[in-house]
Amino acid sequence: MPVGSTPSDLRIKLMQLEHLDAVVQMMREEGWTPTRGDLANVLSYEPEGCFIAEVNGEVVGSVTTTLYTHFGWIGMMMVRKDLRRRHIGSTLLKTALKYFKKKSVPTARLEADPPGVPLYESFGFVKECDSQRWFGEPFKIRNVPGTGRATKADLEAVLALDKRAFGDDRSRVLTRLFEYSDFAFKVRKDPSLGIIMGRKTAVGTLLGPFIAANANVAKRLLRWAIGFVEEGQAYVGIPETCGNARLLLTSQRFRIKSVLTRMYWGDPPRSGNPQLEYGIAASATG
Ligand SMILES: CC(C)(COP(=O)(O)OP(=O)(O)OC[C@H]1O[C@@H](n2cnc3c(N)ncnc32)[C@H](O)[C@@H]1OP(=O)(O)O)[C@@H](O)C(=O)NCCC(=O)NCCS
Repeated sequence: MPVGSTPSDLRIKLMQLEHLDAVVQMMREEGWTPTRGDLANVLSYEPEGCFIAEVNGEVVGSVTTTLYTHFGWIGMMMVRKDLRRRHIGSTLLKTALKYFKKKSVPTARLEADPPGVPLYESFGFVKECDSQRWFGEPFKIRNVPGTGRATKADLEAVLALDKRAFGDDRSRVLTRLFEYSDFAFKVRKDPSLGIIMGRKTAVGTLLGPFIAANANVAKRLLRWAIGFVEEGQAYVGIPETCGNARLLLTSQRFRIKSVLTRMYWGDPPRSGNPQLEYGIAASATG
């Protein structure tokens, strides 16, 4: 593909709610399926750290950041098809990384679709591992003993476990997703042992965030949640390092449908405990 010069009227601006329809439209044209609500959530985590690119007054690119304490996440990186290889993506990424520096967050992480990998590599991002998307058929189970709907108080109870699993405090993101999800389930006897949330997307019901203190809890939560998937497939995203999750998903006849590349920039990321992580919250936020 011929490489062009940077458009002379390229402007990088803070992403605002008024830009979201144009960003969603650009993503739809690429076959991505985030909703306006998904984007609004990410924007709400970091209103000063999400950016759009404008050319001729039109939105032609986007990038978001979500900062935790020790590391942050980059997401929603896209440039409109007809303007690629003109350094718009790299200008957006530079802006995002500058935001990390400004906020003194030493590590940026992300889950890259294949077209993004060369761009990230050109900035010194390094591969952490593959991140898999597992899909499975729903089956109707309406009785998994000891499992029930989670309340906001249950979410509070599980935050310490989540921090161990994820490696950082993402209570802000989980609190928002809890309100946004279609369902969330807990272990009745001890809600601090795990949680699974589920929300409908254009490609099925995403089960995540999903964390559990042990494999038995995880199996109960997953089977209960699958029973609430009304149509289409259920799916879960996990880094390949999550061995317990792979065993569980295989046993429930889930299969890998696509693979992204988890990468980092800056200091090596502080690790969580991947054996407690059974499903990421979202590609854009980890
Ligand atoms: C990835 C994406 C954002 C890159 O945007 P872009 O504006 O085309 O990227 P840039 O022009 O700034 O590229 C910067 C550098 O990245 C590398 N790069 C970018 N696209 C590349 C490609 N298709 N092949 C090889 N290298 C590439 C090159 O080193 C390039 O520098 P150069 O053009 O001077 O050689 C764009 O291709 C895109 O939107 N893809 C679809 C969505 C997607 O997959 N996003 C990644 C999600 S994680």
